[in-house]
Amino acid sequence: MHIFASLSVALALAASAAEAVRTMIPKTSFNSQADFDADWNYLYPWGTDHNGGARMDKAQVAFSNGQLTLTAKKVTGQKDASHGGKAIKINYLSGAIHAKEHFNVSRGGGYDFTGEFKATTTKGTWPAFWLTAVDGWPPEIDMAEWKGSGKISFNTFNTSSVLSWKDVDYKNPGDWHSIKCELRDVNQRDVQVKFYMDGALVTTQVGGNFFGKPMYLIINLQMEGSSGSPGPSSNTLYQARNLEVLSYNP
Ligand SMILES: *[C@@H]1O[C@H](CO)[C@@H](O)[C@H](O)[C@H]1NC(C)=O
Ligand SMILES: *[C@@H]1O[C@H](CO)[C@@H](O)[C@H](O)[C@H]1NC(C)=O
Repeated sequence: MHIFASLSVALALAASAAEAVRTMIPKTSFNSQADFDADWNYLYPWGTDHNGGARMDKAQVAFSNGQLTLTAKKVTGQKDASHGGKAIKINYLSGAIHAKEHFNVSRGGGYDFTGEFKATTTKGTWPAFWLTAVDGWPPEIDMAEWKGSGKISFNTFNTSSVLSWKDVDYKNPGDWHSIKCELRDVNQRDVQVKFYMDGALVTTQVGGNFFGKPMYLIINLQMEGSSGSPGPSSNTLYQARNLEVLSYNP
């Protein structure tokens, strides 16, 4: 009886500790324009261009029935992008969205980011689901990134040269795959990151000094760059559904 009672208390505590405090983005955010507008903005937080051959354009973003579709299409006549002091040829218009809220792991807290994705691993296609610093850089956590190699990558950057990464085979890219990324406070300085694919833990990484640093959440279909070139001449699709963000921050 005594043991049973303590066990019940322990289980109750464990259950309450695991309870999300707040739904930051509900699974319905791709149901309608109004649902989308409540949680997301178009483009990257900093604009249309980044580190690859696609320029982001609102017209390449579509959503309906709970599903987001980003489409990259080959174009000509775009002016170059500029990244890290280098000119980059723009060969595609594509889609990017970012969450209106920022994500900042606080004391004893964290977040769960989950979603199902249909992503391509064709050379020159570079879809991603990732978090990056609002102020300066890092933090960066690539919760899922596909760099045109047949693999999916999971990365955490302490600095540009000190990073954890895990690349695994990405089978059946034409199917939906679920991704879950759990961020948790370790010691009010570092953040533990657990990466799951299709329900199985793939890797655990630690972001040094990520605690309390606000991050953007971005879903984008970049092209070429780290995924090689040339990319495909036919349209490329990247889709997401059942996307949800839960906060465990107190
Ligand atoms: C990043 O920093 C954290 C905290 O110091 C450490 O645990 C982790 O191993 C570091 N990552 C790498 C790749 O060194
Ligand atoms: C992070 O969140 C905490 C509360 O959870 C807040 O006190 C702090 O100001 C936030 N930090 C930043 C840089 O936004």
